[in-house]
Amino acid sequence: MCGIVGYIGQKKAYPILIKGLKRLEYRGYDSAGVAMIDTKGGLNVYKAKGKVADLEAFCEDKDISGNAGIAHTRWATHGEPNSANAHPHYSASGRLALIHNGIIENYATIKENLVARGIQFKSVTDTEVLVQLIEHIMVSNDLDLLEAVQVALHQVIGAYAIAILDREHPDTIICARQSSPLVVGLGEDGDFYLASDASPIAEYTDKVVYLNDGDIAVMRLGEKLKVVNLDNETQHPKVKQIDVTLGQLEKGGYPFFMLKEIFEQPNCLRDCMRGRINVEGDRITLSAVIDFREKLAGARRIIIVACGTSWHAGLIGKQLFESLCRIPVEVEYASEFRYREPVIFPDDVVIAISQSGETADTLAAIELARQAGAFVFGVCNAIGASIPRQTQTGVYIHVGPEIGVASTKAFTGQVTVLSMLALCLANERRTIPGDVYKEMVAELTRIPEKMEEALKTNEQIERLAPIFTYAKNCLYLGRGYNYPVALEGALKLKEISYIHAEGYPAAEMKHGPIALIDSEMPVFVIATRDKLYEKVISNIQEVRARGGRVTALVTAGDEQIRRLADHVIELPDTLECFQPLIASIPLQLLAYHIAVCKGKDVDRPRNLAKSVTVE
Ligand code: F6R
Repeated sequence: MCGIVGYIGQKKAYPILIKGLKRLEYRGYDSAGVAMIDTKGGLNVYKAKGKVADLEAFCEDKDISGNAGIAHTRWATHGEPNSANAHPHYSASGRLALIHNGIIENYATIKENLVARGIQFKSVTDTEVLVQLIEHIMVSNDLDLLEAVQVALHQVIGAYAIAILDREHPDTIICARQSSPLVVGLGEDGDFYLASDASPIAEYTDKVVYLNDGDIAVMRLGEKLKVVNLDNETQHPKVKQIDVTLGQLEKGGYPFFMLKEIFEQPNCLRDCMRGRINVEGDRITLSAVIDFREKLAGARRIIIVACGTSWHAGLIGKQLFESLCRIPVEVEYASEFRYREPVIFPDDVVIAISQSGETADTLAAIELARQAGAFVFGVCNAIGASIPRQTQTGVYIHVGPEIGVASTKAFTGQVTVLSMLALCLANERRTIPGDVYKEMVAELTRIPEKMEEALKTNEQIERLAPIFTYAKNCLYLGRGYNYPVALEGALKLKEISYIHAEGYPAAEMKHGPIALIDSEMPVFVIATRDKLYEKVISNIQEVRARGGRVTALVTAGDEQIRRLADHVIELPDTLECFQPLIASIPLQLLAYHIAVCKGKDVDRPRNLAKSVTVE
């Protein structure tokens, strides 16, 4: 949700800011803006509705000189996406400019007070309230900017990552964070970079500081980075090595990041398993399980909290933990869990799954679980994000930055980590025989190769996709481990092609959704050979009997379903519990190609953002 970039140093700020915004555009893309101190000391703010490219076009004839600036790409919360509501926002006198990611919950009360003091507003955003408040405090109490920020943030309730430029102090950027991510990059020449994640910083420096909640950072040229809290106590955050490479941030010849990320999955899963599965391929070692063996293997219950695609991964995790470890599992939408007064026991293990590691609802669910005394385990992709820092232990999925807004490789990475964790705990608890454990681990190591096989369906799916572009509704059916795959397939299609789609357990169809089926309704059935195979065939028959058009994902060589379905997509065979890793690939490709056929911006679907840092 919203991307923040900043730079102050010897280089020209504008190209760094624009390039950084493009890297962060996955976080929001309804409007963008930049504020820079020009070479004459003026503070210029330029803003445009639309994508970063629209901002660039707008700036073509503007003064973009200067070595200090802040920039923002927006995902609207308060006020429609237009240039007035876009960030940066000026303070009343025009001395300050501020960008913000997050939500100021008590903005209406603060605004009322400021309006009563004669301050006028140009936008309807919560962000403008903050910059007006800071200037008002600075002027009326004769404080410097840092002091005014500290006083203002004491009054604010909500989530923020902010950065401020002050015309009177062109050598300084001040930024602060509370519940929204912010990373400071330390350049070789004493210059400073600032961003919502490390991706805009990676090409300039590998030294970063991840700010913590309550931190305020002062980046002043010629001085070391200063970090204090709201009470002006000095903080000592660690300088860390950056974790992304430039190659990971580029499209590498693919038309969209989403397609690149779909094709990266075999290697991502190899990275995810590397160092965790031994070279013989028969043992899994997770340091989290070594460090917290008793807590994890002795769990009375597992509660999985997550949102969206990560929640779907959690549904697969439930089946893995229940069948392999015999531990009862509940899978909760983090947004519901946090407000539901759930019963949590101290010997529960709560597993929080999140690609970004910044999802506000998941963070709140973690906090609730911790307060109840549960042990919290994180499954995350973004290194150094908030969720890994707020959980007692966890496992990174190590699939590299995911830039396409629709999650693909993170999903399979999450399922792989959950598979490894379930196998590890099952081995510790002796709930599966040793030889079964070894055979399952070996099969897991074969999954990347089988994914490569599954990716060969790309051309077939590209040919099929135009058939489905007319559809207004689609149904995805699966059972057992393939039910969450159906949910995920439907979500992918909704997100990027804007076709309504529902995922259903195949047998539930006859309890309602069957009424929708007619010849206009594409039905995608995951019908790979497993213990429910025959039953899924009956479900396909039910759809056929009502004129439904069936596309089935089947195990290679399946002639029975070929005779029943309109189209079949053949997939390599694997153990039932790993089938989601294979079966999700054609469904990702299907959503991708349908969206491309419909001319949609696959990487930046409307209304969505990659990192949902507001509730
Ligand atoms: C769907 C998608 C979202 C996210 C959800 C949770 O493609 O990406 O549904 O899965 O917003 O995000 P994370 O995993 O970052 O917590």
